[in-house]
Amino acid sequence: MMSPAHPPAARSAPNLMFSHMGLSVIDIDRMERFYTDVLGFTVTDRGELDMGMKLVFLSRDPLDHHQIVLATGRPPALPDNVHATQFGPSINQISFKMGSIADLRDIHQRLQEDGANHIFPGNHGIAWSIYAHDPEGNNLEFFVDSDWYMDQPFLIPLDFSLSDEGIYEQTRAMCEKSPGFEPYGVWRDRVAKRMTPFMAAPFKG
Ligand SMILES: [Fe+2]
Repeated sequence: MMSPAHPPAARSAPNLMFSHMGLSVIDIDRMERFYTDVLGFTVTDRGELDMGMKLVFLSRDPLDHHQIVLATGRPPALPDNVHATQFGPSINQISFKMGSIADLRDIHQRLQEDGANHIFPGNHGIAWSIYAHDPEGNNLEFFVDSDWYMDQPFLIPLDFSLSDEGIYEQTRAMCEKSPGFEPYGVWRDRVAKRMTPFMAAPFKG
């Protein structure tokens, strides 16, 4: 006999973690070139469905067959975000974590060399970011976490003319003025208690 279903309030959260996303694209070759040549993704598979949809699977992590899948079928015109053209009409941003401010300077250079549009270096206090559009206008973010939490949302331009140390010290001083300021580790420990952990199965490599 099956046990009765738990009422929703008594259920634990489903056992899931975020893995990947798909982008509907117009020019799949152009998008593949950008995500491989500029961002360093590997094509793990490609093909076409009976309906005529072409797909390119991209990953930078062998634990995920694909982190981004490009799939044809995007209509030729989409409206702008009603607040700011930096952000998308549906996907606000797709964000990539980087290791250091030097990495941010490096991707900034690569995006400029590739002719990316809407390049905007931003400072969130909790993170340093570069926003830029991919070839079909999807807003990407490249970011490095700082060592501090401050109340969000917060966004001012990031001044790349400062040294790494200058950016770090300016940001710490700015974060310390926020009512919610605390070391990021303290914030993480607290918020972790509100989150249901993902029960990862052992990795069979
Ligand atoms: Fe973000």
